[in-house]
This record gives sequence, C-alpha cells and structure tokens, in this order.
Amino acid sequence: MTEESERYLVRPGRACDAIELARLQASVQLQAATDGQPHPGIAAWVEDLLDGHPSVVPDDFLVAEDSTTGRPVASLVGLRQDWSLAGVRLPVVQVELVGTALEHRGNRLTDRLFAALHQRCAADGVPVQMIEGIPYFYRRLGYDYALANDGAPTVPATALPARGHDLPEGSRGSLTVRPATIADADDLADIDRRLAGGDALICPRNAEAWRYEIAGRRPADQARRAVAVLVHDADVRGYLVHTVRLSTAGELTVVAAACNRPADWPRAAAAMHTHLGHTGRQYAASAGQPFAAVRLLLDQQHPLARLGPPGVPRRPRGWYVRTGDPVDLLARLLPVLRDRWLAADLRWHEPALTIDIYGRAARLEFTNGELTAVMARRGAVSPSTDPHTHAAMPPGALLQLTLGHRTLPEVLDIWPDCLLGDRLTEHFLTVAFPRVPARIWPRN
Ligand SMILES: CC(C)(COP(=O)(O)OP(=O)(O)OC[C@H]1O[C@@H](n2cnc3c(N)ncnc32)[C@H](O)[C@@H]1OP(=O)(O)O)[C@@H](O)C(=O)NCCC(=O)NCCS
Repeated sequence: MTEESERYLVRPGRACDAIELARLQASVQLQAATDGQPHPGIAAWVEDLLDGHPSVVPDDFLVAEDSTTGRPVASLVGLRQDWSLAGVRLPVVQVELVGTALEHRGNRLTDRLFAALHQRCAADGVPVQMIEGIPYFYRRLGYDYALANDGAPTVPATALPARGHDLPEGSRGSLTVRPATIADADDLADIDRRLAGGDALICPRNAEAWRYEIAGRRPADQARRAVAVLVHDADVRGYLVHTVRLSTAGELTVVAAACNRPADWPRAAAAMHTHLGHTGRQYAASAGQPFAAVRLLLDQQHPLARLGPPGVPRRPRGWYVRTGDPVDLLARLLPVLRDRWLAADLRWHEPALTIDIYGRAARLEFTNGELTAVMARRGAVSPSTDPHTHAAMPPGALLQLTLGHRTLPEVLDIWPDCLLGDRLTEHFLTVAFPRVPARIWPRN
C-alpha cells in the first residue's frame, strides 16, 4: 500500500455520517448555482437519502475517510433500483453525489470509491451501473454512453395552450391533469406495472415509492419533483412529473410522462401541455421571473413530444452505463430475446449461437430452434477465424445492443471489430436487438 492510500480508508456509509456527508456534498455539488456557498438542496437530498428513503440505506453510500481526522472527505451513493424491459426485471445501481472535498482532490479517491462500488455490484449481482455526469470523465472508469437521455424539443411558453378554451379542468368526460395526492399512489403503481411489460425500458415505482415522491421528501430536497395525474372523471389514466420551480433560464422541466392507454395520448398530451403552461405561469408569478419554456427531458419519440406543440429541436444526450459482465446482462434478458425471435417466426438452426466479446463469449443455446439458455464461455483466441464463433464484437458494442441503444447496423458501422459469420446471423441479431426507447425516471 502506498502512503497516500493508507491516508484514506474507503468504507460503507453509516447513519451517523448524515451531517458530515450533507455538509461535504453541499460544499462540492452545483457550486456554480450558489456562487461557492453550500447548496441547501443538495444537503436536504443527502439528509433524505440517509433518513427515511424507501429504497436507500446508509450502507449504499461509500465514503473515503481521512484517517488522520476520521472525517469523510469523499463519497458517492449507489442507488439501487429495478428497471424493467418487456416484463424482465433489470437490477441497476444509479451512481449519484460523487464528490471530493477540494483539499483532498487528486488523490484518486473517486477511482477508489468506484472500484469499491463495482466490487459491491459484482458481489450483489447488479449487472448495470449508470450515472449522469461530467462529459468524458466516467469513461475513465469503464463507463460508456449507452442510454439515450433527452432529445425532445423544448416548447416555448408562448406555444403552450391556454387553460380554459375547450378543456376546463375537471370537465366530465374529458382528460384533465391535477396535482397528485398520496391517495393516487396505488393507481400510479398500477400504471407503472402495466408499462413495465411494454417495449420501453422503464424504472417502475411501487405505491410506497410514489407516496415518497408525492409527499415524502424534505421541501428543499434537490431531487424533489411535482407529480400530477392525468384523470378521466375519477379514473387515474396517467402521470406527469416535473420540476418544482423554474430554472434560471425560466424553464419548467418534465422528467416523466405516462399514459396507460396509448389511444388517449393525443388528448392526454393536450391536457398535459395545458397543465404545464398553467403551472409554469404560476411558478413564474411566485418567483417574479419570466416563464420561458417547457423543457421535455424525454426522448425524441416520446408521445408527449410528438403530439405536443412544435418546439426547438435538441440534440439527444446520453447516460453513462457500465456492466461488469455483458454476458450476464444478456442472460437476464433471455425471455425478451426468445420472444422477439418467436414474434418474428425465427428459429435458430444449430444447437448454439456464439457471440464472442474478445476474451469471453456468450453461448446462446437453442432447443427446437427456441432460445433456452445463455452461458458464459471463454472467448476464442482468434474469434475472427474461429469456426464456432458466429459473431464477434467488443463488450461495449454488446452492451449497446443489449440495452437497445444502438441497432446492429449502427454497431457494424461504428465498430470495424464487430464481425458477423454470415447473413443469417446478421438477420437473427438484427431482430434480437431493436432500438428500445429509454423512458427512465431513475429512483433517487
Ligand atoms: C469530480 C471529482 C469527484 C473528482 O475528484 P477526485 O477524487 O479528485 O478524482 P481522482 O483523484 O480520483 O481523479 C482525478 C482525475 O480526474 C480529473 N478530474 C477531476 N475533476 C474533474 C472534473 N471536474 N472534470 C474532468 N476531470 C476531472 C483530474 O484532473 C485527474 O485527472 P488525472 O488523472 O489525469 O490527473 C471532484 O472534482 C469533485 O468533487 N468535483 C465537484 C463535484 C462534481 O462535479 N461531481 C461529479 C458530478 S457527476
């Protein structure tokens, strides 16, 4: 061990760290917004995470402690959550609140905290870690941009429908939007349960999690959002989640929107935009600042974006994603792959299809043409010439395909070392890996 690494001890968080961690994180995060002052929203968020959060325990924090003072000087938190794709549960850890006290920076504390986090995820069988953060920085720690985030047009406030023209709030038989109460939590959880079986990657919430979002957080919590429900008479048919104040640019940001009947979307989008216009004007009046626009933090194809007023196009951004084991990730999605091939009436003609990821390989096993197992194998020495290898690709390419972030033609275009044995394999893998909309509002 070097002298520097002996100076710091990396350990799990404890409930008694709450005050120190809130102070530490408030002094390093979002400092541009506070002009270098402690950020009260960050402090309240850390306090919430360490006290009464439905899915976070103090142990989910990892802390670097200065052994000379015994005080935390760097930390992060791994927020455990289950995402869902076509009904298959995908355990994910979202990394948040990565920060090192100014005077302790440059000691590789972030590297050490991430190494501990990745070890923990491997031990706990969590195949995916994701983070939103500093451009490029997390690539150094094994992350890649593999989930679309953002990209829907920003709708100018002047383009929003005014309330009261044709859909007064609460009119019988119409779809309207109102603030949620905790009595809506069961209905909201039902909507998520239904969406979890669909073709988008989502982060479903149960009733407890919805109650927490609606009424459980400290008012100042930086992660607090306003939840509204889409209703048809007494029936809750969808939800809309947005920020609780305007940004300094005068934008109201939408982080999630859902509707449990696709046929309702054209009317739902109108009702939601009406509500956003009304809310944005209210926030503007109480803050004494102009309301400029609704910022849809949603994918370009999201129905709220497609069916809403035209806006100013935005370039999609990405979330960083890492997996310690791409073959395990693929194996978890076995039912999804099997169903996609069945739906396309495709049966594999050999007992196995081998995808080599340079070093390791995924052997997909078939019975009567139907996928029955995904097994990890040692990769071929030279997958490009190995007669038993059907496809070879870098692990990062398989991650992108598995999450539906890139299609096979895109991967073939980007990675010259993505190789396919024949046209049949190409057809099979094209069907296996369609683009998947990422409609994630992570649990934090
Ligand atoms: C980002 C941060 C956590 C890095 O802390 P750290 O413990 O000093 O990082 P490490 O010592 O492990 O790594 C240092 C390396 O990261 C680089 N680095 C540090 N901060 C960086 C930043 N904001 N942007 C880009 N690179 C950064 C350093 O230049 C150094 O690079 P080198 O290896 O080429 O010398 C720290 O700068 C911080 O707390 N920033 C404010 C909060 C923040 O932005 N958190 C991330 C939110 S996503």
